[in-house]
Amino acid sequence: MSIQSAGESPTGAAPASGAPDGAPGADPRTAPDPASPQGGHRTAAIIPAAGRGVRLGPGAPKALRTLSGTPMLVHAVRAMDRARAVSLIVVVAPPDGADEVRHLLDEHTSLAPGGELPATDVLVVPGGETRQDSVRLGLAALPGDVDAVLVHDAARPLVPVDTVDAVAAAVREGAPAVVPALPVPDTVKEVEPRPGGGPEPVTGTPERSRLRAVQTPQGFALKVLAAAHEQVAREGDGATDDAGMVERLGIEVVVVPGHEEAFKVTRPLDLVLAEAVIARRRATDGF
Ligand code: CTP
Ligand code: MG
Repeated sequence: MSIQSAGESPTGAAPASGAPDGAPGADPRTAPDPASPQGGHRTAAIIPAAGRGVRLGPGAPKALRTLSGTPMLVHAVRAMDRARAVSLIVVVAPPDGADEVRHLLDEHTSLAPGGELPATDVLVVPGGETRQDSVRLGLAALPGDVDAVLVHDAARPLVPVDTVDAVAAAVREGAPAVVPALPVPDTVKEVEPRPGGGPEPVTGTPERSRLRAVQTPQGFALKVLAAAHEQVAREGDGATDDAGMVERLGIEVVVVPGHEEAFKVTRPLDLVLAEAVIARRRATDGF
């Protein structure tokens, strides 16, 4: 894994005069697309990891806390690295923690499962106040030959590679915006919120069979996600996920099957579940 600071050119960036697609020996992850005006069609993954993890309780920023001895962020980077389509990873670090994150990633490179060095370039940039700011800062760091992007929460460290591949493939096949999601097990009520814990009047019950709980990575044609961020910057008012911003542009978002192991580590009990998932993987496939 080659780790760069913002502003450095990732070594894996498609050269201006690379082998054409399909040429013998061309690496499909880096081969430039002659049809693209910028001479490439790489897929990058942005990993927002700049949150504090308030709901997890006191301690280090959430992405830097460990699961089975390895920082959550490193698990997330490995998950993106395993995806065949992804040739660049942009990690959005806590605003004052970019150097620490760079060192951490360097330190864990040689510990990749199977002993293989990750093949993907990794760029680390400092994040912002909100998740949306952090994703925008990640987008700003992308080189010109990227035309598709996956946005993946560091807080979903155990997403299976098949889920990542499915999202990336749907974008590559032409969908402008793709989200992995699962059916919702609980019945969901809409309420009139009453801060302070008092009883909240129910205002509706959406039909459960039509609801999906969305996960990450969410995949986009880069120009679609960039346009969504520009609109939000102009008009204010974000959305709780990246796809929500794209929906506001009137662009179709599609859902593909998510995975129960792509759950978000949010509260302390989620750490227990994550450790159990890792233990099960170790027992079944030597993860
Ligand atoms: N995130 C980010 N920049 C922020 C806030 C969040 O990059 N300013 C990232 C988090 O690091 C996480 C992802 O967005 O990987 C999803 O956010 P969430 O689960 O809410 O994480 P935190 O914001 O860290 O947790 P909390 O809301 O409990 O503080
Ligand atoms: Mg948060």
